[in-house]
Amino acid sequence: MLSKLILINRIVLLAFHHLLFRLRLKVTSLIHRITYSPVSNPRDIVVIGASFAGYHAAYCLAHSLPTGYRVTVIEKNSHFQLTWVLSRFCAVQGHESKAFIPYGPYLAKAPGSAYRWVCDEVTAIVSDQKGNGGRVQLRSGEIIDYEYLVLATGSSATLPSRVGEESKEDGILALREEHQRLREGRNVVVIGGGPAGIELAADVKTKDPEKNVTLIHSHGTVLNSHFGMDMRQRVLNEMETLGVRVILGERPSASDETTELILSTGEKIPCDCLVKCIGQKPNSNLLSSSVSPSGHIQVRPSLQLADPSLGNVYAAGDIIDRDIIKNGRAAIEQAQIVAQNIVRQIQGKQLVTYQAQWWEGATKLTMGLKKNLVYMNDGETDMIFPMKNKREDLDSAMVWRFFGAKPYEDPE
Ligand SMILES: Cc1cc2nc3c(=O)[nH]c(=O)nc-3n(C[C@H](O)[C@H](O)[C@H](O)COP(=O)(O)OP(=O)(O)OC[C@H]3O[C@@H](n4cnc5c(N)ncnc54)[C@H](O)[C@@H]3O)c2cc1C
Ligand SMILES: *[C@@H]1O[C@H](CO)[C@@H](O)[C@H](O)[C@H]1NC(C)=O
Repeated sequence: MLSKLILINRIVLLAFHHLLFRLRLKVTSLIHRITYSPVSNPRDIVVIGASFAGYHAAYCLAHSLPTGYRVTVIEKNSHFQLTWVLSRFCAVQGHESKAFIPYGPYLAKAPGSAYRWVCDEVTAIVSDQKGNGGRVQLRSGEIIDYEYLVLATGSSATLPSRVGEESKEDGILALREEHQRLREGRNVVVIGGGPAGIELAADVKTKDPEKNVTLIHSHGTVLNSHFGMDMRQRVLNEMETLGVRVILGERPSASDETTELILSTGEKIPCDCLVKCIGQKPNSNLLSSSVSPSGHIQVRPSLQLADPSLGNVYAAGDIIDRDIIKNGRAAIEQAQIVAQNIVRQIQGKQLVTYQAQWWEGATKLTMGLKKNLVYMNDGETDMIFPMKNKREDLDSAMVWRFFGAKPYEDPE
C-alpha cells in the first residue's frame, strides 16, 4: 500500500515537472524567434522520419538552432500516421481518417527559415570519411548535404501495427479492406500476443461476440518481460472474460490463405481470417555500422551512434537498441535529448545523456471496446488500474492537438 502511495506521489510530481517543462519551452522558443535570423546558405541538420521521434526532434531543433543552421525533415508519408488507433480502426469502421494527422502545424510557430519539409524517402546515406558531415540520397534523385543527421526511421510492419502505405488515401483504403476482412471472418485467428494482437483480438470479439476469436502467442504468457507478471496474468483474465480464446506456447506455421492452423497437440483451429501481429522490422538498412543483430541502431548514452566515426549522427525512437518499453513517450524524450545535444555540439558544450525514466514505460492497453488497462512500474511497484473506455476513437484528438492540428480538420 505504501509503495502504491509513493507511486501516486511520483505521478503528481511528474505532472508538475511536465508543466514546468512546457513553460520553459515557451520562454526559450520566444527568445529564439527574436534572436534567430535567416541566412542564404544554412547548414542542414537532416532528420529522417517524422513520427514521434523525428517530428518532435524537428520541433525542438526548429525552436533552438542557432543562426546559420536549419533543420530539414525528410518523411515519405503524406501524413503523421498514428499507430495507437490502428487496431481499433481495423475493428470498427468510420474513424479511418483520424489516424492521419496533417503535417505542418507543429512547426508553424518556429521561424520559417529554421526548417524545411521534404516529402520523399531517403534511399542512401553517405557519410564523409572525416566524419564531419555527409549526404543523403532521396528516391527522387535529389541529394541533400547534412552537417548533422538524426535517424528516426522507426520500424515497419503491416496492419494493425503500421499502416504500410505512404498516402492518406491508400492508408484509409488499407484500413477499410482490413475492416471488411475482419467483419466477414467467422473464425478469426490473431497471431502474436503483444499489444497490437491483444487489442485487436479483444476489439473484434467485443464488436461481434458471435465470432470465434483466437489469440495465439509463442511464449508462456502474453506481452513481454517489460510487463510485470501481474499485468500479464490480468490481461489473460480479461481475454477470458471477453471470450477470446488464448493459446500459449504455440508457433503454428500459417500462410496468409490458410483455412486451418494445426497446433503441436494436433488440434486444428479453423481460420477464415488470419491476422499476423508479429515481426515489426526496424528500419536500419540505411546504415552499415552500429546495427545490432536484431537490426536496431546501437547508440551511446548521448544518443550519438555507437560507431566512433559517426559522432554527428544521432538516433531516437523505436529504432534504437535499448531494452525498454518502446513507445511514443520514450521516443519524444529521446528526441529532446538529441535536439539538445546537437545544439550543444554546435556550441562546443558537453553533451547530456539519456536515461530511460520509469514513467516513459506507462502503457494503456484497450481491453475491448469498453475498457482499458493502464500499467505502470516505477522500478519497484507494479500498478495496474482499469479505466472506462469512453471514446471509440480513443485518444486520437489528443494527439492531433499535441501536434498542433485541429481535430479533425485536414486542409488537404
Ligand atoms: C499497435 C500499436 C499500438 C501502440 N500504442 C501505443 C500507445 O498507446 N502509446 C504509445 O506511446 N506508444 C504506442 N505504440 C508505440 C509507438 O507507436 C511507437 O513507439 C512510436 O510510433 C515510435 O515512433 P518513431 O518515431 O520511433 O518511429 P515510427 O512511428 O516507426 O515512424 C518512423 C517514421 O519514419 C519514416 N521513415 C522510415 N524510413 C524512412 C526513409 N528511409 N525515408 C523517409 N522516411 C522514413 C516512416 O514513414 C515513419 O513516419 C504503439 C505501437 C503499436 C504498433
Ligand atoms: C466457432 O467454433 C465452433 C467450434 O469449432 C463452431 O462449431 C462454430 O460454428 C464457430 N462459430 C462460428 C460463428 O463460425
